[in-house]
Amino acid sequence: MQPDLLTVRDLYYRYQDGTNALNGLNISVPVNCRAAILGANGAGKSTLFLHFNGLLRPLAGSVYYRGREVQYNKKALMNLRQRVGIVFQNPDHQLFSASVWQDISFGLMNQGCGKAEARMRVEAVGEQLGISELFFRPTHFLSVGQKKMVSLAGVLAMEPELIICDEPTAGLDPENAQLFMHVLNQLQQQGKTIVISTHDVNLAYQWADLVWLLHRGQVLAEGSPLEVFDQDELLKQAHLETPWLLEIWRVMEAQGLVSADMPPRSKAQLRQALHE
Ligand SMILES: Nc1ncnc2c1ncn2[C@@H]1O[C@H](COP(=O)(O)OP(=O)(O)O)[C@@H](O)[C@H]1O
Ligand SMILES: [Mg+2]
Repeated sequence: MQPDLLTVRDLYYRYQDGTNALNGLNISVPVNCRAAILGANGAGKSTLFLHFNGLLRPLAGSVYYRGREVQYNKKALMNLRQRVGIVFQNPDHQLFSASVWQDISFGLMNQGCGKAEARMRVEAVGEQLGISELFFRPTHFLSVGQKKMVSLAGVLAMEPELIICDEPTAGLDPENAQLFMHVLNQLQQQGKTIVISTHDVNLAYQWADLVWLLHRGQVLAEGSPLEVFDQDELLKQAHLETPWLLEIWRVMEAQGLVSADMPPRSKAQLRQALHE
């Protein structure tokens, strides 16, 4: 049997000031899934992500990539970071070159990729993400939505297997948020594995195939969105609410207004259920 792509086992992490951010966390990410790490502010999502590509080293516990324990020497880390790309929540923490082109090609050049190959890859991701016309613009004048796409482009150019996006929709307007999630869907359909973090229960409910509910550096619940969001008590404990689609569905069900047995995962499915 194929091992999961990335597994963390009994993970503990403590910051220098003594904050215990991860407290015995277990997660296993299957190949090619769309997964969400869901948690309120401070739950430990970003800290966990920094362990996914070795930017942080566990205090205790281990990280496994394709069943192999992550090693923290330079060569092993470079290898891991080529496979596991991270899009930070704040694009200003990711982008620092003078132009978009330089930013997207930065990782490739750093890795010793030849100029011709780098050019080909940058052009391909530019086309795929619809940002080719931005190539020679200064990065710092772009909108947040554009910066976010450029961050993703830089990650994609490295051709990672696993793409991690920390709060991908934070700071984006609804249209740009939807566009970004649509692009992540396309990448998943092309074979990539995608893990996002979010405190947005509606986003996690509608987008993910797999959800981990995080609270104080521990997993409170995991499973399909329907399994996780059915656990009201745990959601409350994690300082989160029930997704609005599910909330409305329960009311309609109680009043006998709907007969379909599966709650809708999108507005379109809700509409369809109402017309059945
Ligand atoms: N650099 C840091 N130094 C000290 N504590 C930190 C640092 N970064 C995060 N923390 C703390 O670690 C915990 C988890 O934070 P974080 O991983 O950023 O959560 P999330 O991404 O879910 O909001 C919080 O209590 C936060 O205050
Ligand atoms: Mg965070």
